Amino acid sequence: MRLGVPKETRAGERRVALIPDTVRSLADRGIEVVVEAGAGAAAGHPDVQYTDAGATIGDPWGANIVVAVAPPTVGEIGRIGPGKVLIGFLAPLTAVETTKALAAGGITSFAVEAIPRITRAQAMDALSSQANVAGYAATLLAAREAGRFFPMMTTAAGTVSPAKVLVLGAGVAGLQAIATAKRLGAVVTGFDIRRAAWEQIRSLGGRPLELDFIPDAEDESGYARPLTEEENERVREALAESAGRQDVIITTALIPGRPAPILITRAGVENMAPGAVIVDLAGESGGNCELTEAGGTIVHGGVKVIAPANLASDMAAHASQLYAKNLENLIGLITSEEGELALDFDDEVVAGACLTHGGEIRNERARSVVEGSA
Ligand SMILES: NC(=O)c1ccc[n+]([C@@H]2O[C@H](COP(=O)([O-])OP(=O)(O)OC[C@H]3O[C@@H](n4cnc5c(N)ncnc54)[C@H](O)[C@@H]3O)[C@@H](O)[C@H]2O)c1
Repeated sequence: MRLGVPKETRAGERRVALIPDTVRSLADRGIEVVVEAGAGAAAGHPDVQYTDAGATIGDPWGANIVVAVAPPTVGEIGRIGPGKVLIGFLAPLTAVETTKALAAGGITSFAVEAIPRITRAQAMDALSSQANVAGYAATLLAAREAGRFFPMMTTAAGTVSPAKVLVLGAGVAGLQAIATAKRLGAVVTGFDIRRAAWEQIRSLGGRPLELDFIPDAEDESGYARPLTEEENERVREALAESAGRQDVIITTALIPGRPAPILITRAGVENMAPGAVIVDLAGESGGNCELTEAGGTIVHGGVKVIAPANLASDMAAHASQLYAKNLENLIGLITSEEGELALDFDDEVVAGACLTHGGEIRNERARSVVEGSA
């Protein structure tokens, strides 16, 4: 059994799907790994580290299982043979052409985004591992751009007060942003429409912004439900008021498969003092700030609104290390002890993560997205 690791081709993508340590663990299980030349270079892993770990450098696309970070192009998918396996972030709810090409090519594909968020699958949960990296990176970016200390500082030249940071959306990325801002010494407030998150914010030393006029918005899947327009309006008003007291706002609020909710309006930005910073992690889903320009920075009334694209890729070394571990665990689930492919579609993780198999689109939501686009 051979596993292929291509060099990522999406613009700005620095991560790699497997690191040399993972190659070593897979080799112990009899799985050969073929790595494309230069695949790990931007994540700090030159080819020699892979060959030392037992991999060969060559064409990864003919392998039995190809592992990737970003969705491969349609041309790259054409190089994976029918019956072969692809695992990666495949954007099943947005990348229609990718899904169609995978189905047409008879490829068995697994989208890591679709791995069920159940306890047993936590070690494979790539959405969480990468959101954790992004939440950390977003806080460091905000701290760098804020032009002020995060901690209180008592110096011979005077005392400065700690930065005030508001984090919107307290899922995986938001909780890491709260923890990181807290470690840097800021006074941190967190907000989420799921009540369960309030206690988690508190446990990290943050203060939950308890907008209790919104009933708990957690649905049966554990995610947030979209708010009604009236609820959204009230939340935006409260946040615009709170924005005026903040030096930094980090936003991470998402509803799976929908545009991101607007939480900070133009008026909210205008309430902030010049020099304040907003880092919007939801930029690629439309943004949590009305003024966000995905992938760019705008300055409005002296307030910087930064919406970095693919922030996890900026911390490619650790992002790749965690992602590789997620994949190693998933590969363990779809291979036998002898290292052969062993797909058990009765397993809810295997079935849940499967995007295409035998020429069909298996994921119901992805299928309706493709049908809706026809
Ligand atoms: N059991 C597991 O293995 C596991 C693993 C990871 C995550 N989870 C859970 O899944 C859920 C989602 O996590 P995620 O980080 O992927 O979420 P996400 O990235 O989809 O969303 C980020 C956060 O935004 C919040 N949000 C949505 N709309 C909002 C609004 N209008 N205002 C404020 N906040 C808003 C959500 O509640 C969520 O906490 C959480 O409950 C998390 O604890 C469970």
